[in-house]
Amino acid sequence: MKVPEQIQVFSPSTIANVGCGYDVLGFALDGIGERMTVTRRDDGKMVIEEDDRFNLPTNPLKNVATVAATALLREAGINMGFTFAFEKEIHPGSGMGTSASSSAGAVFAVNEMIGLPFNEQELITFAMEGEKLISGKAHADNVGPNILGGFTLVRGYDPLDVLRLPVPEDLYVAIVHPQVVVKTTDAKRMLKSQVKLEQAVNQWGNVGGLVSGLYESDYDLIGRSMVDNIVEPTRKLLIPMYDDVKQAAMDCGAIGASIAGSGPSIFAFTKGKETAEKIKETMQSLYDEVGILAYTYLSKIGKSGVRTLESL
Ligand code: HSE
Repeated sequence: MKVPEQIQVFSPSTIANVGCGYDVLGFALDGIGERMTVTRRDDGKMVIEEDDRFNLPTNPLKNVATVAATALLREAGINMGFTFAFEKEIHPGSGMGTSASSSAGAVFAVNEMIGLPFNEQELITFAMEGEKLISGKAHADNVGPNILGGFTLVRGYDPLDVLRLPVPEDLYVAIVHPQVVVKTTDAKRMLKSQVKLEQAVNQWGNVGGLVSGLYESDYDLIGRSMVDNIVEPTRKLLIPMYDDVKQAAMDCGAIGASIAGSGPSIFAFTKGKETAEKIKETMQSLYDEVGILAYTYLSKIGKSGVRTLESL
């Protein structure tokens, strides 16, 4: 089998937690993400191409892509070098899984270039090393949908067990990314390490409800399950106008809305594209009115995960 010397992949952006599923639920966006070109090197080095737009770290020990790819190569017992070049669409630090896109893209591409020794669950494990670098915890709720596409549930971490969930056809998401900095490490650190039993009962009821809603394409059940009484009350304090934006989305007909990953982006689910368009415009204008720069996005749920665009 001839292995490629260069490969270009598309790795989708993802939204984790989905309200009630802290560190376990996530989904991929459709056609929004990053392109990554990975080229084999003869000198055995891991190199990140400089990127003027986002100033990504070029030290291979500090970039999620090289950290994740190195974990894979170490496990494979292969000493090879690669250059990684990124074209990111979403600003890093959005809560839309930009680092997960890079980690997943890197392990997917390198796996292709060494003859596909690893399966999808193993690729998720390597990509989690990038998440560990960026957030202090090797969580799989972003890299799961990156690799598998669609909605995923981390049923368990030890051993890792990431499940694919169904994607309702008419489910759309409107997203707003206000330009404030929220570091995932800080957003994780600020959470209490213990929750009350009553809160836990509500939360696992909602996780079950959301999963059931996805299986049944029951939009109302999906919406009423998007209740997070553990993480959202603390983290929303980091996001300007969170309550107003969420309420406006609900008033426009969202079935549910919450924080995208660790924030600061806010996402709203809708049944159908028209309502999502309306919510996207409303969220944008709320931030415009107070002079906070914000980017907005609209997407279906992306059924495909990371994929090859070109292989040479
Ligand atoms: N589940 C992670 C968190 C996602 O909420 O901290 C980080 O994007």
